Amino acid sequence: MSTDRSAVVSLAEGEKAIIRRTWAIASRDMAGNGANILLKMFEINPETKKVFAKFRDIPDNQLRSTPRFRAHVTRVMASIGTVVSALDDQEVLLDLFKDIGKKHHPPRIPEEYFDVIAGAILCMLQRCLGTDYTAEVDAAWTKLYGGLSRHAKDGLKEASAMKAP
Ligand code: HEM
Repeated sequence: MSTDRSAVVSLAEGEKAIIRRTWAIASRDMAGNGANILLKMFEINPETKKVFAKFRDIPDNQLRSTPRFRAHVTRVMASIGTVVSALDDQEVLLDLFKDIGKKHHPPRIPEEYFDVIAGAILCMLQRCLGTDYTAEVDAAWTKLYGGLSRHAKDGLKEASAMKAP
């Protein structure tokens, strides 16, 4: 397949360095920071919790002590970590991004939920980094997540089309 490399996500070397450095900090606590992402997403838009059949009935304040939730958020963090480890390879990034979308059908999640989690990821980073969360950090992650989200939505649409009855 030919890939328009500029269309995946074009990060300058400095932006890649920022993402790697800040992710190294965030990934020191995969379950804790993964939980921060999901709990923030549920706070921003409580509807998003309804798609999680495995723990939607558990109150938010009990989720951190629920192994199933911690396992799930650790998987989400690992998936972001894989993306961070592939920043130099646009074709791998494209595949990873699409695959993230495909994992979300079934059950098909509304694609706009990928925009809700964007804000939650940035909040988690802000919380981890404190005053080290600069405008440059915000810009680098916003750019990376923009590529992820765009192609994940494509992957989700492709999976829906293939699995439609
Ligand atoms: C950066 C964005 C996201 C990443 C990296 C991500 C990652 C993952 C991963 C790795 C899995 C496990 C899939 C598997 O084991 O096959 C998963 C499952 C799932 N994700 Fe996401 N996800 C993202 C966004 C979202 C959003 C925005 C929602 C909905 C609001 C969502 C809802 C779900 C649900 C419902 C499952 C299935 C959970 C289960 O029953 O095991 N995800 N996600």
